[in-house]
Amino acid sequence: MKIGILGAGNVGGTLGQGWARRGHEILFGVRDPQSPKTRDLIAQCGDKARAGSAAEAATCEVVVNALPFAAGKEALEALNLKGKVLLDCANPLKSDLSGLEIGPNTSAGEMAADWAKGAKVVKIFISTGYNNMANPDYGGNPLTMFYCGDDPAAKGIAADLARDLGFTPVDAGPLTNARLLEPLAMLWIWLAIRGGMQREFGFRLVTR
Ligand SMILES: NC(=O)c1ccc[n+]([C@@H]2O[C@H](COP(=O)([O-])OP(=O)(O)OC[C@H]3O[C@@H](n4cnc5c(N)ncnc54)[C@H](OP(=O)(O)O)[C@@H]3O)[C@@H](O)[C@H]2O)c1
Repeated sequence: MKIGILGAGNVGGTLGQGWARRGHEILFGVRDPQSPKTRDLIAQCGDKARAGSAAEAATCEVVVNALPFAAGKEALEALNLKGKVLLDCANPLKSDLSGLEIGPNTSAGEMAADWAKGAKVVKIFISTGYNNMANPDYGGNPLTMFYCGDDPAAKGIAADLARDLGFTPVDAGPLTNARLLEPLAMLWIWLAIRGGMQREFGFRLVTR
């Protein structure tokens, strides 16, 4: 699958490397495709990745928003994402990471859908750290990746891409449930930083 990734930082870079390793074609949409950081990342992705503009990344069948929340409005409004599957990974964090800027009666996921007119938005890859996106395996037990959205086919693609990375995907309902997932992401961040757990932990749903 051709996947365009807006942003090539911790999250964009990790997702891109993971998917490239599993045979997907990655196009990182970045401000400076020739920067040393981007060139290093491309080299680590093997022959399956390249870098270009955000507009080029937006031509892929699946587009990932791995930008800081504050950059999302301008970036998404500038692109033609009509009909695209848009995986929104942005957490609307306060700058001191003490909480969320948005919610509880709306969400960054719903705002992304408003900015990216006509895109099929799935909120995913938010409730855990990028280190777990590189390796979601805990002693043979995969972490859960919750996702939500309103388009069943787009959600199926998102789930498959999460499974490709080693997560167990769990459908968490409509896009309005980003109002629930974004606070769950905040809980992970709180536990990691203020709770002192650092980064090597994650959420796993158990059933019986
Ligand atoms: N870090 C995590 O563990 C984690 C986990 C889940 C979700 N998230 C969310 O994922 C998103 C990305 O986080 P991250 O940790 O990957 O951040 P990051 O490492 O700082 O990377 C951000 C990327 O966005 C680009 N960028 C920043 N401002 C931009 C702008 N105004 N226009 C265009 N590109 C811009 C940066 O490009 P330059 O290199 O050119 O600056 C960089 O490629 C955030 O919304 C975050 O809340 C993070």
